[in-house]
Amino acid sequence: MLDEGDPYTIAWDAENECILYIDQTLLPERYEQMRCVTVDDLARAIRRLEIRGAPALGIAGAMGVALAAVRSRETDLQRFSGEVGRAGELLRGTRPTAVNLAWGIDSVLGKMALAASVAEAKEIAVAEANAVAEEDELTCRRLGGFGEELFPERCTVLTHCNAGALACRCWGTALGTIRSAVEAGKDVRVIACETRPLNQGSRLTCWELARDGVDVTLIPDSSAAYLMRKGMIDLVVVGADRITKDAVFNKIGTYMHAVAARHHGIPFYVAAPVSTFDLSREETDITVEERDRSELAYCGDKRLAPESVNVLNYAFDATPLDLVDAIVTEIGVLRPPYTESFRLVRDKEVRP
Ligand code: MRU
Repeated sequence: MLDEGDPYTIAWDAENECILYIDQTLLPERYEQMRCVTVDDLARAIRRLEIRGAPALGIAGAMGVALAAVRSRETDLQRFSGEVGRAGELLRGTRPTAVNLAWGIDSVLGKMALAASVAEAKEIAVAEANAVAEEDELTCRRLGGFGEELFPERCTVLTHCNAGALACRCWGTALGTIRSAVEAGKDVRVIACETRPLNQGSRLTCWELARDGVDVTLIPDSSAAYLMRKGMIDLVVVGADRITKDAVFNKIGTYMHAVAARHHGIPFYVAAPVSTFDLSREETDITVEERDRSELAYCGDKRLAPESVNVLNYAFDATPLDLVDAIVTEIGVLRPPYTESFRLVRDKEVRP
C-alpha cells in the first residue's frame, strides 16, 4: 500500500478543487505528491506517465472532467457542456490504448448530461469522479479475492510492468491478486520483469512490493523464458489496458511471456476490472500507442543508439485469448471458451 498520509495514487482535493497524485516518474527515488489545477496540467502528467496504469487513467479521466467543470466560468449550460466536452476530448487523446481513460471520462460526462443547471452539473461531476475512484478500490479488493484462489499455497509468480496500487487507486489488479494471496497466508514469491524501456517493473512494482514486505526479485525481461525452462516460475499474472473480443492489450512484452508460458505449460492469467473490457472491438481496431524514440535511444542524457538509427517503440502488445488461461475480474474468474464467459461481462451493468 502507499503512504498512510497519502494512501491513494490519485485523489480529489475538495478543499482546493484540484487533483492530487503521486508522480510515478520520480519513483523509486522520490515519493512525492503533486497537484493538477488545470486540464492541461493533467494532460501533460498523463502523457509523461506521471499518472499511468489503466485503472488510474480511468480515475484521472473522471477527475479531469470534474476539474474542467469546477474551473469553468461559463454560466450558460449549453456552452458549459461544450467546454467540458472539449476538455474530455483533449484528455481522451492523451493515451489511445488504455480504454479505462475514455471510460472514466464518459462515466462523468454521461451523469452530467442529466443536470438542469451549471451548478448541478458541477456537483454531479465531482460526486461521480469520486464514485469512480472509490469503486476502483472495491473492485481491486474483490478481484484480488477471486484471483488469490488461483495461487497454490506456495508459489513463484512472474509479473510484467506495474499493475499495482500505483496503477489503480490502491491495492492493484495483478498485484492485487498477489497482495490478496499474501494476506490469505500463502507463501508467494514474485519475479518482476524490469519492463523496458520505462522500467515500470523495476521502478514501481519492486518499490511497491518491497515496501509491503513481499518477496520480490527483479529480472531483465529477456530472462523470463529461461526461468520458466528452469522450473522457477509457477504462474504468470499481468494486468490489461484493454480486452477486446479476441485479445488482451497490455504492456509491450506481455505477449512474449504468454507464448513462453504456454510452451512451458505454465498458467498465464490476466487480472483486470470489467471497465477494461471493450467487447465491441477486435484487436485490429485498436490503436497501439507508439512512444518517442528517446525512450529507447537514450538513458537519461546518455545516448544508447546511433542518432541515425530507426526506432520502433510500441508501448503495448496484444496477446491472443487462446494463450490466456483465465481472466480475473471483480465479478469472478472468466475461463475459456471466452465467447461464453464474456457474456457475464456483457450482462453486467457497466457505468455509465
Ligand atoms: O504505459 P503504462 O505504464 O501506463 O502501462 C501500464 C500497463 O501496461 C499495465 O500493465 C496496465 O495498465 C494494467 S494496470 C492495472
